[in-house]
Amino acid sequence: MSALIEIEHATVRFGGSSAWRRLLPGGAGGSAEPVIAVDDVSLSVSRGAALGIVGESGSGKSTLMRALMGLAPLAAGEIRYDGRALGVRRDVATRRAIQMVFQDPGTTLNPARDVGGILAELLGVHGMVARERVEARVRELLDLVHLPADVADRRPGQLSGGQKQRVAIARALALEPQVLIADEATSALDVIVQASVLDLLAELRQSTEVTLLCITHDLDLVRYLCDATVVMRAGRIVEEAPVKQLFEDPQTEYTRELLAAVPRLEVAP
Ligand SMILES: Nc1ncnc2c1ncn2[C@@H]1O[C@H](COP(=O)(O)OP(=O)(O)O)[C@@H](O)[C@H]1O
Ligand SMILES: [Mg+2]
Repeated sequence: MSALIEIEHATVRFGGSSAWRRLLPGGAGGSAEPVIAVDDVSLSVSRGAALGIVGESGSGKSTLMRALMGLAPLAAGEIRYDGRALGVRRDVATRRAIQMVFQDPGTTLNPARDVGGILAELLGVHGMVARERVEARVRELLDLVHLPADVADRRPGQLSGGQKQRVAIARALALEPQVLIADEATSALDVIVQASVLDLLAELRQSTEVTLLCITHDLDLVRYLCDATVVMRAGRIVEEAPVKQLFEDPQTEYTRELLAAVPRLEVAP
């Protein structure tokens, strides 16, 4: 069986030639050092897998996922999805297929609209269901993420952090993605709420057969939710192993350190 996602020798660079620096005294000489955020990464993910991506802050996890989403262009290498090469320009169906949930749902939900409006608009714009089915689908989506129906009438600002994250997940699921990326999706939540969102992700994995990519600092999350793990450091994959093996027999000192470290909150960039 071929992999759903194949990343081959992907490299993402930032900076080095930003236009504004050419306006500074010294002209082109004032350029910044380029950052190689993702450095020759190869990775394949099979359909239905749950892959944990771990590594210290700044190791390139989010950038790799942004590249997969088409939000960060590759300087080298290739990303294939379902056998097809993906650039940053994608058709709507491909964009729908890969959805991402972020650490701070508050910044990605429109504060001026109620939750029902946010979901209904998305369903409408993408033509996910017939117009007369939109209301019922909004209710189904809220139900899928275990939110009460009356949340539809509230705005994001009137919800708790955990509820907002559930709305963000519902919004991603509205597009019936094949891949769901959770980028530190539970990091900003308190421990009990974290556990309930984790339960939700685990449940969705069963009920929707979505392929899950979990970026996290929290190795307990990986142990609970994922079947394989890659460890990133300085833009590279330094270790790749089934979860059980990673915990029982880490192959690098870096992974041993990660396993020993107390989970801490990642500060959003
Ligand atoms: N938009 C950007 N512009 C410049 N540098 C960036 C940008 N996004 C990320 N970086 C840099 O790329 C590296 C990897 O960052 P990131 O992918 O966010 O790491 P992680 O998600 O593992 O914390 C870091 O050095 C970061 O500063
Ligand atoms: Mg990140």
